Amino acid sequence: FKTPIATNEPILNYAPGSAERKELQDTVAKMKATPVDVPMYIGGKEVRTGNTVSMHPPYDHQHNLGHFHKGDGSHVKMAIDAALAAKESWANTSWEHRASVFLKAAELIAGPYRAKLNGATMLAQSKNAFQAEIDSACEIIDFFRYNVQFMRQIYTEQPESGPGVWNKLEYRPLEGFVFALTPFNFTAIAGNLPAAPAMMGNTVVWKAADTQIYSARVIMEILIEAGLPDGVINLVYVGGQEAGDVIFSHRDFAGIHFTGSTAVFENIWKTIGNNISTYKSYPRIVGETGGKDFIIAHESADPIQIATAISRGAFEFQGQKCSAASRAYIPKSLWPAVKERLEIDVKSFKMGSPEDFTNFVNAVISEKAFDSIANYIDGAKNSSDAEIILGGGYDKSKGYFIEPTVIVAKDPKFTTMCEEIFGPVITIFVYEENDFEATLDLVDDNAYALTGAIFAKDRIVIEHMCKRLVNAAGNFYINDKPTGAVVGQQPFGGARKSGTNDKAGAMQNLMRWVSARTMKETF
Ligand code: ALA
Repeated sequence: FKTPIATNEPILNYAPGSAERKELQDTVAKMKATPVDVPMYIGGKEVRTGNTVSMHPPYDHQHNLGHFHKGDGSHVKMAIDAALAAKESWANTSWEHRASVFLKAAELIAGPYRAKLNGATMLAQSKNAFQAEIDSACEIIDFFRYNVQFMRQIYTEQPESGPGVWNKLEYRPLEGFVFALTPFNFTAIAGNLPAAPAMMGNTVVWKAADTQIYSARVIMEILIEAGLPDGVINLVYVGGQEAGDVIFSHRDFAGIHFTGSTAVFENIWKTIGNNISTYKSYPRIVGETGGKDFIIAHESADPIQIATAISRGAFEFQGQKCSAASRAYIPKSLWPAVKERLEIDVKSFKMGSPEDFTNFVNAVISEKAFDSIANYIDGAKNSSDAEIILGGGYDKSKGYFIEPTVIVAKDPKFTTMCEEIFGPVITIFVYEENDFEATLDLVDDNAYALTGAIFAKDRIVIEHMCKRLVNAAGNFYINDKPTGAVVGQQPFGGARKSGTNDKAGAMQNLMRWVSARTMKETF
Protein backbone atom coordinates (compact mmCIF):
# COMPACT_ATOMS: atom_id res chain seq x y z
CA PHE A 1 0.00 0.00 0.00
CA LYS A 2 1.54 3.22 -1.13
CA THR A 3 -0.34 6.26 0.09
CA PRO A 4 -0.14 9.20 -2.30
CA ILE A 5 2.09 12.09 -1.28
CA ALA A 6 -0.34 14.68 0.01
CA THR A 7 -0.68 18.03 -1.68
CA ASN A 8 -2.97 20.89 -0.76
CA GLU A 9 -6.31 20.91 -2.51
CA PRO A 10 -6.33 23.82 -5.01
CA ILE A 11 -8.75 26.59 -4.02
CA LEU A 12 -11.46 27.24 -6.61
CA ASN A 13 -11.89 30.95 -7.23
CA TYR A 14 -15.61 31.07 -8.15
CA ALA A 15 -14.93 33.77 -10.74
CA PRO A 16 -18.01 35.42 -12.26
CA GLY A 17 -19.25 33.23 -15.13
CA SER A 18 -17.37 30.14 -13.96
CA ALA A 19 -19.06 26.73 -13.87
CA GLU A 20 -18.20 26.28 -10.17
CA ARG A 21 -19.85 29.59 -9.29
CA LYS A 22 -23.05 28.64 -11.07
CA GLU A 23 -23.10 25.19 -9.46
CA LEU A 24 -22.60 26.66 -5.97
CA GLN A 25 -25.23 29.36 -6.48
CA ASP A 26 -27.76 26.81 -7.76
CA THR A 27 -26.95 24.43 -4.89
CA VAL A 28 -27.34 27.14 -2.24
CA ALA A 29 -30.64 28.31 -3.76
CA LYS A 30 -31.97 24.76 -3.83
CA MET A 31 -30.82 23.96 -0.29
CA LYS A 32 -32.34 27.20 0.99
CA ALA A 33 -35.69 26.37 -0.59
CA THR A 34 -35.78 22.76 0.69
CA PRO A 35 -36.05 22.40 4.48
CA VAL A 36 -34.11 19.42 5.81
CA ASP A 37 -34.88 16.89 8.53
CA VAL A 38 -31.56 16.07 10.23
CA PRO A 39 -31.27 12.91 12.34
CA MET A 40 -28.50 11.91 14.71
CA TYR A 41 -26.30 9.02 13.50
CA ILE A 42 -25.73 6.30 16.10
CA GLY A 43 -24.34 2.87 15.30
CA GLY A 44 -24.97 3.42 11.60
CA LYS A 45 -28.65 4.22 12.18
CA GLU A 46 -30.43 7.50 11.72
CA VAL A 47 -32.03 8.44 15.04
CA ARG A 48 -35.02 10.80 15.16
CA THR A 49 -36.34 11.84 18.56
CA GLY A 50 -39.19 14.06 17.40
CA ASN A 51 -37.80 16.77 19.68
CA THR A 52 -36.97 19.04 16.76
CA VAL A 53 -35.05 22.31 16.81
CA SER A 54 -35.25 24.56 13.77
CA MET A 55 -32.19 25.89 11.97
CA HIS A 56 -31.90 29.39 10.49
CA PRO A 57 -29.29 31.22 8.43
CA PRO A 58 -27.59 33.72 10.78
CA TYR A 59 -27.85 36.33 8.00
CA ASP A 60 -31.62 35.77 7.56
CA HIS A 61 -32.88 34.45 10.88
CA GLN A 62 -36.56 34.35 9.93
CA HIS A 63 -35.87 31.82 7.19
CA ASN A 64 -36.26 28.17 8.10
CA LEU A 65 -33.61 25.74 6.85
CA GLY A 66 -35.32 22.76 8.44
CA HIS A 67 -34.62 21.16 11.79
CA PHE A 68 -32.48 18.68 13.65
CA HIS A 69 -33.56 16.07 16.17
CA LYS A 70 -32.31 16.92 19.63
CA GLY A 71 -31.24 14.03 21.83
CA ASP A 72 -30.53 13.65 25.53
CA GLY A 73 -28.27 11.67 27.86
CA SER A 74 -29.83 8.38 26.74
CA HIS A 75 -28.62 9.04 23.18
CA VAL A 76 -25.13 9.77 24.43
CA LYS A 77 -25.23 6.42 26.22
CA MET A 78 -26.42 4.75 22.98
CA ALA A 79 -23.58 6.43 21.09
CA ILE A 80 -20.99 5.21 23.61
CA ASP A 81 -22.38 1.67 23.40
CA ALA A 82 -22.26 1.82 19.59
CA ALA A 83 -18.68 3.12 19.66
CA LEU A 84 -17.59 0.37 22.05
CA ALA A 85 -19.37 -2.30 19.98
CA ALA A 86 -17.59 -1.16 16.80
CA LYS A 87 -14.21 -0.83 18.49
CA GLU A 88 -12.62 -4.24 18.14
CA SER A 89 -13.38 -4.65 14.49
CA TRP A 90 -12.22 -1.10 13.60
CA ALA A 91 -9.07 -1.36 15.74
CA ASN A 92 -8.22 -4.58 13.90
CA THR A 93 -8.90 -3.07 10.49
CA SER A 94 -5.54 -2.41 8.85
CA TRP A 95 -4.36 1.17 8.91
CA GLU A 96 -4.22 1.10 5.12
CA HIS A 97 -7.91 0.22 4.98
CA ARG A 98 -8.79 2.94 7.49
CA ALA A 99 -6.71 5.42 5.51
CA SER A 100 -8.44 4.55 2.27
CA VAL A 101 -11.87 5.34 3.76
CA PHE A 102 -10.70 8.88 4.55
CA LEU A 103 -8.93 9.26 1.21
CA LYS A 104 -12.20 8.38 -0.46
CA ALA A 105 -14.04 10.89 1.74
CA ALA A 106 -11.54 13.54 0.59
CA GLU A 107 -12.26 12.66 -3.05
CA LEU A 108 -16.02 12.86 -2.45
CA ILE A 109 -15.63 16.34 -0.93
CA ALA A 110 -13.33 17.46 -3.74
CA GLY A 111 -15.86 16.26 -6.32
CA PRO A 112 -19.56 15.46 -5.94
CA TYR A 113 -20.09 16.90 -2.42
CA ARG A 114 -18.08 20.09 -2.75
CA ALA A 115 -21.01 22.38 -3.51
CA LYS A 116 -23.26 20.73 -0.92
CA LEU A 117 -20.74 20.97 1.93
CA ASN A 118 -19.84 24.54 0.98
CA GLY A 119 -23.55 25.34 0.65
CA ALA A 120 -24.31 24.01 4.14
CA THR A 121 -21.43 26.07 5.57
CA MET A 122 -22.62 29.22 3.77
CA LEU A 123 -26.26 28.82 4.77
CA ALA A 124 -25.99 27.74 8.38
CA GLN A 125 -22.64 29.22 9.41
CA SER A 126 -22.87 32.40 7.32
CA LYS A 127 -19.56 32.20 5.50
CA ASN A 128 -19.09 33.70 2.06
CA ALA A 129 -18.33 31.32 -0.81
CA PHE A 130 -14.58 31.97 -0.72
CA GLN A 131 -14.35 31.36 3.03
CA ALA A 132 -16.51 28.24 2.75
CA GLU A 133 -14.25 26.95 -0.04
CA ILE A 134 -11.13 27.42 2.12
CA ASP A 135 -12.78 25.75 5.12
CA SER A 136 -15.30 23.13 4.09
CA ALA A 137 -13.62 22.11 0.84
CA CYS A 138 -9.84 22.62 0.96
CA GLU A 139 -9.03 22.43 4.66
CA ILE A 140 -11.08 19.33 5.43
CA ILE A 141 -9.70 17.58 2.34
CA ASP A 142 -6.18 18.56 3.42
CA PHE A 143 -6.78 17.24 6.94
CA PHE A 144 -7.81 13.85 5.59
CA ARG A 145 -5.03 13.59 2.99
CA TYR A 146 -2.19 14.82 5.21
CA ASN A 147 -3.33 12.73 8.13
CA VAL A 148 -3.04 9.68 5.88
CA GLN A 149 0.51 10.69 5.04
CA PHE A 150 1.31 11.03 8.76
CA MET A 151 -0.36 7.66 9.43
CA ARG A 152 2.04 6.03 7.02
CA GLN A 153 5.00 7.61 8.77
CA ILE A 154 3.74 6.56 12.19
CA TYR A 155 2.91 3.00 11.26
CA THR A 156 5.95 2.28 9.13
CA GLU A 157 8.87 3.89 10.97
CA GLN A 158 10.20 1.22 13.31
CA PRO A 159 13.08 0.81 15.77
CA GLU A 160 16.19 -1.18 14.80
CA SER A 161 16.10 -4.98 14.79
CA GLY A 162 19.21 -7.22 14.59
CA PRO A 163 20.47 -10.77 14.39
CA GLY A 164 18.42 -12.89 16.78
CA VAL A 165 16.19 -10.05 17.95
CA TRP A 166 13.36 -8.10 16.47
CA ASN A 167 11.74 -4.98 17.90
CA LYS A 168 8.48 -3.38 17.02
CA LEU A 169 6.43 -0.38 18.06
CA GLU A 170 2.82 -1.33 17.71
CA TYR A 171 0.49 1.67 17.70
CA ARG A 172 -2.76 0.50 19.20
CA PRO A 173 -5.74 2.85 19.49
CA LEU A 174 -6.67 4.01 22.99
CA GLU A 175 -8.64 1.57 25.11
CA GLY A 176 -12.24 2.81 25.23
CA PHE A 177 -13.94 5.53 23.19
CA VAL A 178 -12.94 9.09 22.25
CA PHE A 179 -15.23 12.11 22.60
CA ALA A 180 -15.05 14.84 19.91
CA LEU A 181 -16.59 18.14 21.00
CA THR A 182 -16.57 20.46 18.03
CA PRO A 183 -17.05 24.18 17.28
CA PHE A 184 -19.30 26.07 14.87
CA ASN A 185 -16.67 28.25 13.29
CA PHE A 186 -14.81 25.75 11.11
CA THR A 187 -16.48 22.87 9.29
CA ALA A 188 -12.99 21.46 8.68
CA ILE A 189 -12.11 21.47 12.39
CA ALA A 190 -15.48 19.93 13.25
CA GLY A 191 -14.73 17.16 10.74
CA ASN A 192 -11.12 16.64 11.77
CA LEU A 193 -11.79 16.30 15.49
CA PRO A 194 -13.69 13.00 15.19
CA ALA A 195 -11.75 11.90 12.09
CA ALA A 196 -8.20 12.10 13.48
CA PRO A 197 -8.82 9.66 16.38
CA ALA A 198 -10.92 7.42 14.09
CA MET A 199 -8.09 7.25 11.56
CA MET A 200 -5.87 5.87 14.33
CA GLY A 201 -8.33 3.05 15.05
CA ASN A 202 -10.46 4.67 17.74
CA THR A 203 -14.23 4.86 17.77
CA VAL A 204 -15.81 8.18 18.55
CA VAL A 205 -18.81 9.96 20.01
CA TRP A 206 -19.10 13.27 18.18
CA LYS A 207 -21.12 16.13 19.66
CA ALA A 208 -21.49 18.92 17.10
CA ALA A 209 -22.33 22.52 18.02
CA ASP A 210 -26.02 23.28 17.37
CA THR A 211 -25.06 25.97 14.84
CA GLN A 212 -22.87 23.59 12.79
CA ILE A 213 -25.25 20.64 12.57
CA TYR A 214 -26.19 21.23 8.93
CA SER A 215 -22.61 20.76 7.69
CA ALA A 216 -21.88 18.06 10.30
CA ARG A 217 -24.68 16.03 8.79
CA VAL A 218 -23.21 16.40 5.30
CA ILE A 219 -19.80 15.23 6.59
CA MET A 220 -21.50 12.18 8.10
CA GLU A 221 -23.22 11.37 4.78
CA ILE A 222 -19.85 11.60 3.06
CA LEU A 223 -18.09 9.34 5.57
CA ILE A 224 -20.85 6.74 5.26
CA GLU A 225 -20.63 6.83 1.46
CA ALA A 226 -16.83 6.51 1.76
CA GLY A 227 -17.29 3.22 3.62
CA LEU A 228 -16.89 4.16 7.28
CA PRO A 229 -18.27 1.17 9.20
CA ASP A 230 -21.28 1.59 11.49
CA GLY A 231 -20.48 2.87 14.96
CA VAL A 232 -16.99 4.22 14.22
CA ILE A 233 -18.21 7.82 14.43
CA ASN A 234 -21.51 8.48 16.19
CA LEU A 235 -22.95 11.97 15.78
CA VAL A 236 -25.23 13.33 18.51
CA TYR A 237 -26.95 16.66 19.16
CA VAL A 238 -27.33 17.16 22.89
CA GLY A 239 -26.78 19.81 25.53
CA GLY A 240 -23.22 20.17 26.80
CA GLN A 241 -24.09 19.33 30.39
CA GLU A 242 -26.14 16.25 29.40
CA ALA A 243 -23.32 14.97 27.22
CA GLY A 244 -20.67 15.69 29.83
CA ASP A 245 -22.58 13.94 32.61
CA VAL A 246 -22.66 10.68 30.66
CA ILE A 247 -19.28 10.86 28.92
CA PHE A 248 -17.06 11.93 31.81
CA SER A 249 -18.48 9.43 34.27
CA HIS A 250 -17.91 6.46 31.93
CA ARG A 251 -15.19 3.96 32.76
CA ASP A 252 -14.23 3.61 29.09
CA PHE A 253 -13.76 7.32 28.40
CA ALA A 254 -10.32 7.38 26.78
CA GLY A 255 -9.85 10.93 25.54
CA ILE A 256 -11.36 14.17 24.32
CA HIS A 257 -10.59 16.07 21.12
CA PHE A 258 -11.91 19.57 21.69
CA THR A 259 -12.11 22.97 20.07
CA GLY A 260 -14.08 25.67 21.84
CA SER A 261 -13.85 28.19 24.63
CA THR A 262 -11.21 28.25 27.33
CA ALA A 263 -13.89 28.33 30.05
CA VAL A 264 -15.59 25.16 28.78
CA PHE A 265 -12.25 23.39 28.37
CA GLU A 266 -11.20 24.22 31.92
CA ASN A 267 -14.51 22.92 33.28
CA ILE A 268 -14.06 19.71 31.32
CA TRP A 269 -10.51 19.31 32.60
CA LYS A 270 -11.70 19.78 36.21
CA THR A 271 -14.51 17.25 35.71
CA ILE A 272 -12.09 14.72 34.28
CA GLY A 273 -9.74 15.34 37.20
CA ASN A 274 -12.54 14.82 39.71
CA ASN A 275 -13.51 11.54 38.02
CA ILE A 276 -9.99 10.28 37.41
CA SER A 277 -10.33 7.13 39.52
CA THR A 278 -13.35 6.11 37.41
CA TYR A 279 -11.37 5.57 34.24
CA LYS A 280 -9.50 2.51 33.05
CA SER A 281 -6.68 4.69 31.65
CA TYR A 282 -5.64 8.32 32.02
CA PRO A 283 -7.65 10.08 29.32
CA ARG A 284 -5.93 12.05 26.60
CA ILE A 285 -7.02 15.68 26.79
CA VAL A 286 -6.42 17.54 23.55
CA GLY A 287 -7.91 20.98 23.17
CA GLU A 288 -7.68 24.13 21.15
CA THR A 289 -9.32 27.03 22.95
CA GLY A 290 -9.33 30.82 22.88
CA GLY A 291 -6.95 33.45 21.60
CA LYS A 292 -6.14 37.13 21.82
CA ASP A 293 -4.02 37.17 18.73
CA PHE A 294 -1.65 40.04 18.17
CA ILE A 295 0.04 42.10 15.52
CA ILE A 296 3.07 44.13 16.53
CA ALA A 297 4.88 46.34 14.10
CA HIS A 298 8.37 47.81 14.42
CA GLU A 299 9.15 51.21 12.94
CA SER A 300 11.11 49.52 10.11
CA ALA A 301 7.95 47.75 8.86
CA ASP A 302 5.91 48.48 5.74
CA PRO A 303 2.66 50.29 6.71
CA ILE A 304 0.67 48.93 3.77
CA GLN A 305 1.58 45.37 4.73
CA ILE A 306 0.51 46.06 8.31
CA ALA A 307 -2.83 47.56 7.27
CA THR A 308 -3.57 44.60 5.01
CA ALA A 309 -2.73 42.16 7.79
CA ILE A 310 -5.07 44.00 10.15
CA SER A 311 -8.00 44.18 7.76
CA ARG A 312 -7.69 40.58 6.58
CA GLY A 313 -6.53 39.10 9.87
CA ALA A 314 -9.27 40.77 11.88
CA PHE A 315 -12.26 40.84 9.55
CA GLU A 316 -12.15 37.79 7.30
CA PHE A 317 -14.57 35.15 8.58
CA GLN A 318 -16.23 37.96 10.60
CA GLY A 319 -13.37 37.64 13.07
CA GLN A 320 -14.89 34.36 14.26
CA LYS A 321 -11.61 32.55 14.15
CA CYS A 322 -9.58 31.58 17.15
CA SER A 323 -6.63 32.91 15.12
CA ALA A 324 -8.19 36.28 14.24
CA ALA A 325 -6.06 39.37 14.87
CA SER A 326 -7.70 41.26 17.69
CA ARG A 327 -5.02 43.54 19.16
CA ALA A 328 -2.37 45.50 17.31
CA TYR A 329 0.56 47.62 18.46
CA ILE A 330 1.67 50.22 15.93
CA PRO A 331 4.55 52.72 16.26
CA LYS A 332 3.50 56.35 16.20
CA SER A 333 5.58 57.17 13.11
CA LEU A 334 3.74 54.56 11.02
CA TRP A 335 0.25 55.10 12.37
CA PRO A 336 -0.94 57.83 9.91
CA ALA A 337 -0.04 55.66 6.89
CA VAL A 338 -1.46 52.49 8.45
CA LYS A 339 -4.66 54.30 9.39
CA GLU A 340 -5.11 55.81 5.94
CA ARG A 341 -4.82 52.43 4.25
CA LEU A 342 -6.97 50.69 6.84
CA GLU A 343 -9.77 53.17 6.18
CA ILE A 344 -9.60 52.48 2.45
CA ASP A 345 -9.63 48.70 3.00
CA VAL A 346 -12.40 48.58 5.58
CA LYS A 347 -14.64 51.01 3.71
CA SER A 348 -14.34 48.81 0.62
CA PHE A 349 -15.79 45.77 2.42
CA LYS A 350 -19.40 45.05 1.54
CA MET A 351 -21.51 43.48 4.25
CA GLY A 352 -24.54 41.26 3.66
CA SER A 353 -25.83 37.84 2.73
CA PRO A 354 -23.28 35.27 1.52
CA GLU A 355 -25.73 34.45 -1.27
CA ASP A 356 -24.44 37.61 -2.92
CA PHE A 357 -20.86 36.68 -3.77
CA THR A 358 -19.71 40.30 -3.66
CA ASN A 359 -20.31 40.56 0.10
CA PHE A 360 -17.09 40.20 2.08
CA VAL A 361 -18.49 40.48 5.60
CA ASN A 362 -21.39 38.25 6.60
CA ALA A 363 -23.39 37.81 9.79
CA VAL A 364 -21.96 36.47 13.04
CA ILE A 365 -23.19 33.06 14.08
CA SER A 366 -25.97 33.74 16.59
CA GLU A 367 -27.88 36.27 18.66
CA LYS A 368 -25.79 35.32 21.70
CA ALA A 369 -22.57 36.04 19.80
CA PHE A 370 -24.05 39.25 18.38
CA ASP A 371 -25.07 40.54 21.83
CA SER A 372 -21.70 39.74 23.35
CA ILE A 373 -19.76 41.49 20.56
CA ALA A 374 -22.14 44.49 20.59
CA ASN A 375 -21.57 44.76 24.32
CA TYR A 376 -17.80 45.09 23.80
CA ILE A 377 -18.41 47.75 21.13
CA ASP A 378 -20.70 49.66 23.51
CA GLY A 379 -18.01 49.44 26.19
CA ALA A 380 -15.61 51.20 23.84
CA LYS A 381 -18.24 53.78 22.81
CA ASN A 382 -18.83 54.66 26.43
CA SER A 383 -15.22 54.80 27.55
CA SER A 384 -12.83 57.73 27.60
CA ASP A 385 -9.95 55.23 27.26
CA ALA A 386 -10.95 54.21 23.74
CA GLU A 387 -12.19 55.63 20.47
CA ILE A 388 -13.96 53.79 17.66
CA ILE A 389 -12.38 55.04 14.43
CA LEU A 390 -14.10 52.68 11.96
CA GLY A 391 -17.39 50.78 12.08
CA GLY A 392 -19.07 50.37 15.45
CA GLY A 393 -22.53 49.80 13.95
CA TYR A 394 -24.61 46.67 14.39
CA ASP A 395 -28.09 45.51 13.45
CA LYS A 396 -29.87 42.24 14.16
CA SER A 397 -33.23 42.98 12.56
CA LYS A 398 -32.71 40.58 9.63
CA GLY A 399 -29.40 38.88 10.40
CA TYR A 400 -26.70 39.22 13.04
CA PHE A 401 -24.64 41.87 11.28
CA ILE A 402 -21.78 43.72 12.95
CA GLU A 403 -19.68 46.24 11.05
CA PRO A 404 -15.92 45.65 10.97
CA THR A 405 -14.85 47.79 13.89
CA VAL A 406 -11.50 49.40 14.67
CA ILE A 407 -11.01 50.71 18.19
CA VAL A 408 -8.01 52.78 19.19
CA ALA A 409 -7.20 52.35 22.88
CA LYS A 410 -5.36 54.95 24.94
CA ASP A 411 -4.82 52.37 27.65
CA PRO A 412 -2.95 49.27 26.41
CA LYS A 413 -4.82 47.26 29.07
CA PHE A 414 -8.25 48.41 27.90
CA THR A 415 -10.79 45.51 28.02
CA THR A 416 -10.90 44.97 24.26
CA MET A 417 -7.07 44.80 24.20
CA CYS A 418 -7.11 41.88 26.65
CA GLU A 419 -10.27 39.79 26.33
CA GLU A 420 -11.26 37.50 23.46
CA ILE A 421 -14.21 38.99 21.57
CA PHE A 422 -14.65 36.47 18.74
CA GLY A 423 -16.09 38.95 16.29
CA PRO A 424 -15.07 41.58 13.72
CA VAL A 425 -13.41 43.93 16.19
CA ILE A 426 -9.74 44.89 16.52
CA THR A 427 -8.20 47.25 19.05
CA ILE A 428 -5.06 49.20 18.25
CA PHE A 429 -2.57 50.74 20.63
CA VAL A 430 -0.26 53.36 19.15
CA TYR A 431 3.08 53.33 20.97
CA GLU A 432 6.03 55.72 21.13
CA GLU A 433 9.09 54.31 19.35
CA ASN A 434 11.13 54.64 22.55
CA ASP A 435 8.72 52.27 24.25
CA PHE A 436 9.36 49.38 21.87
CA GLU A 437 10.75 47.03 24.55
CA ALA A 438 7.93 47.85 26.96
CA THR A 439 5.48 47.20 24.13
CA LEU A 440 6.95 43.74 23.58
CA ASP A 441 6.30 43.12 27.28
CA LEU A 442 2.69 44.20 26.77
CA VAL A 443 2.31 41.80 23.84
CA ASP A 444 3.65 38.92 25.89
CA ASP A 445 1.60 39.74 28.96
CA ASN A 446 -1.58 37.96 27.91
CA ALA A 447 -3.39 34.85 29.09
CA TYR A 448 -3.51 33.37 25.60
CA ALA A 449 -0.79 32.22 23.19
CA LEU A 450 -2.42 31.10 19.96
CA THR A 451 -1.31 33.22 17.01
CA GLY A 452 0.67 36.39 16.57
CA ALA A 453 2.36 38.38 13.82
CA ILE A 454 5.40 40.62 13.89
CA PHE A 455 6.21 43.19 11.23
CA ALA A 456 9.72 44.58 10.65
CA LYS A 457 12.26 44.90 7.86
CA ASP A 458 15.24 45.09 10.17
CA ARG A 459 16.59 41.51 10.47
CA ILE A 460 18.14 42.03 13.89
CA VAL A 461 14.84 43.32 15.21
CA ILE A 462 13.04 40.31 13.72
CA GLU A 463 15.44 37.93 15.50
CA HIS A 464 14.99 39.84 18.72
CA MET A 465 11.18 39.74 18.52
CA CYS A 466 11.22 36.01 17.75
CA LYS A 467 13.22 35.41 20.93
CA ARG A 468 11.41 37.87 23.16
CA LEU A 469 7.99 36.51 22.15
CA VAL A 470 8.99 32.84 22.16
CA ASN A 471 6.05 31.80 24.37
CA ALA A 472 3.50 34.32 23.11
CA ALA A 473 2.07 32.35 20.16
CA GLY A 474 1.94 28.74 18.96
CA ASN A 475 1.60 30.03 15.39
CA PHE A 476 4.04 32.89 14.87
CA TYR A 477 4.01 34.87 11.63
CA ILE A 478 6.74 37.18 10.36
CA ASN A 479 5.52 39.90 8.00
CA ASP A 480 2.24 38.10 7.41
CA LYS A 481 -1.23 38.11 8.97
CA PRO A 482 -1.72 35.79 11.95
CA THR A 483 -4.48 33.74 10.28
CA GLY A 484 -4.87 31.21 7.51
CA ALA A 485 -2.69 28.31 8.64
CA VAL A 486 -2.62 25.68 5.89
CA VAL A 487 -2.58 21.97 6.73
CA GLY A 488 0.78 20.43 5.88
CA GLN A 489 2.44 23.86 5.90
CA GLN A 490 1.72 25.56 9.23
CA PRO A 491 0.58 23.00 11.83
CA PHE A 492 -1.91 24.85 14.02
CA GLY A 493 -2.23 25.26 17.79
CA GLY A 494 -1.27 27.36 20.77
CA ALA A 495 -0.22 27.15 24.39
CA ARG A 496 -1.04 28.96 27.65
CA LYS A 497 -4.86 29.33 27.81
CA SER A 498 -5.11 28.65 24.08
CA GLY A 499 -4.86 24.91 24.36
CA THR A 500 -2.64 21.89 24.62
CA ASN A 501 -0.74 22.79 21.43
CA ASP A 502 -1.12 19.37 19.85
CA LYS A 503 -1.07 20.93 16.37
CA ALA A 504 -4.07 20.06 14.23
CA GLY A 505 -3.08 18.59 10.88
CA ALA A 506 0.25 17.26 12.14
CA MET A 507 1.78 14.01 13.27
CA GLN A 508 1.91 15.21 16.89
CA ASN A 509 -1.88 15.27 16.96
CA LEU A 510 -2.31 11.74 15.59
CA MET A 511 0.19 10.43 18.15
CA ARG A 512 -2.20 11.51 20.92
CA TRP A 513 -4.74 8.95 19.70
CA VAL A 514 -2.53 5.89 19.99
CA SER A 515 -1.03 3.95 22.85
CA ALA A 516 2.18 2.26 21.79
CA ARG A 517 3.14 -1.29 22.65
CA THR A 518 6.88 -1.89 22.46
CA MET A 519 7.62 -5.48 21.48
CA LYS A 520 10.87 -7.43 21.55
CA GLU A 521 11.46 -11.08 20.65
CA THR A 522 14.75 -12.90 20.87
CA PHE A 523 15.41 -16.21 19.17
N1 ALA B 1 -6.55 27.35 10.76
C1 ALA B 1 -7.26 28.57 10.91
C2 ALA B 1 -6.35 29.74 10.79
O1 ALA B 1 -5.17 29.59 10.91
C3 ALA B 1 -8.02 28.61 12.20
O2 ALA B 1 -6.79 30.82 10.60
